[in-house]
Amino acid sequence: MLIVPRLDLMIAYSCNISCAGCISLSDFKRNGIAPYDDIKSWIDIWSTKLQPQVVAIFGGEPCLHPGLIEICLYVRQQWPTCKIRLITNGYLLDNFDSDAFFNIKNFEIQVSVHRKDHESIINDKIKKILLHRKSWKVNQIGGEHHKQIEWVNEDLTIYKSIFKDFVIPYRLDNKTIVGWNSDPAESHKICGSPSTPILFKGKLYKCPPVANIIDIAKHAHMNYTGYDVNDDLSLFVDNIGKPESVCSFCPEQQHNNVINHLDIANVQIKQKNFS
Ligand SMILES: C[S@@+](CC[C@H](N)C(=O)[O-])C[C@H]1O[C@@H](n2cnc3c(N)ncnc32)[C@H](O)[C@@H]1O
Ligand code: SF4
Repeated sequence: MLIVPRLDLMIAYSCNISCAGCISLSDFKRNGIAPYDDIKSWIDIWSTKLQPQVVAIFGGEPCLHPGLIEICLYVRQQWPTCKIRLITNGYLLDNFDSDAFFNIKNFEIQVSVHRKDHESIINDKIKKILLHRKSWKVNQIGGEHHKQIEWVNEDLTIYKSIFKDFVIPYRLDNKTIVGWNSDPAESHKICGSPSTPILFKGKLYKCPPVANIIDIAKHAHMNYTGYDVNDDLSLFVDNIGKPESVCSFCPEQQHNNVINHLDIANVQIKQKNFS
C-alpha cells in the first residue's frame, strides 16, 4: 500500500460559480457530476493501492452532488483512517442535513470565500451548521495564510479560506488551450496546486489542472495520460510535490499569468438564488 499525503476526489464537474483562472477550469463549459456507482468503483479499486492521509472531496462544486454524504461515508468505510476534507464554496452547504456532517468523523469543511461581498451569505451557511453543536473552539489565524478562521469540534472542523493570486495553468491561443513550454522547475515554483494528485474519472493525475485540461482539451497535455491501477505507481507517488515534464505546460513567474481573485470582476455567479 502506498501512502500519499492527500488525494483529491473529483465528484462534480460543474460549478455554481465561474472563477477566472480556476484550477478546475470552472470558467469553461463544464457539466454534470460523477455517477455515485462510478465513484464507488473508483474508490474500491484505488483503496487496494493507495492509503491517502487526507481525501479531499473536490469539484467543480461538490455540494452540487446529491450523493455527497453517501460518498463521504463510503470514503470513510474504504479508507477508515483518513481525514476527509470537503472543499466547497459554501453557497449550497444547506442542501444537506447538517447532522450528517458530524457523523462522517475526522471530517473537515474548507469553505472557500470567493467574493468578499458575499461573505455574510457564506457566514450564515456556516452558522447553520455551528448551531448543531454547543462546544466550538474558535481560532483566528492571522498573516498571509489562506486559512482565515476555524471552528473546531470533536467531530468536525470548519474553516474559511481565501486565495488572492490564481496562477492560470495554461495559455490561450485564439481561444484554444495550449501550454507555455516553461521550465518545469520554474512553473512548479509558482504553482497553485503543487502537491495534490487527483482521482478523476477513475484515473490518477498529477494535479487538478492536468486532469481537467485533458478532460476538456483532450490532447492538450501531449503525452501525459494519467495512471491506471495496473501502472507502476511508485514513480507517480515519488513525483508528488515535485516538478515533472508535464509542468512545462504551466506558466513561469516571468509569464505574468496571474489573476487577482479578490477582484470581483474575476468571479461570476451562475446560480442567482442562494437563500
Ligand atoms: C477549484 S476549487 C473546487 C472546490 C470548490 N468549488 C471551492 O470553491 O472550494 C478548490 C480551491 O481551489 C482554489 N483555486 C482555484 N483556482 C486556483 C488557482 N488558479 N490558484 C490557486 N487556487 C485556486 C479555490 O479558491 C478553492 O479554494
Ligand atoms: S502541471 Fe505542475 S506546475 Fe502545473 S498545476 Fe500541475 S503540478 Fe502545478
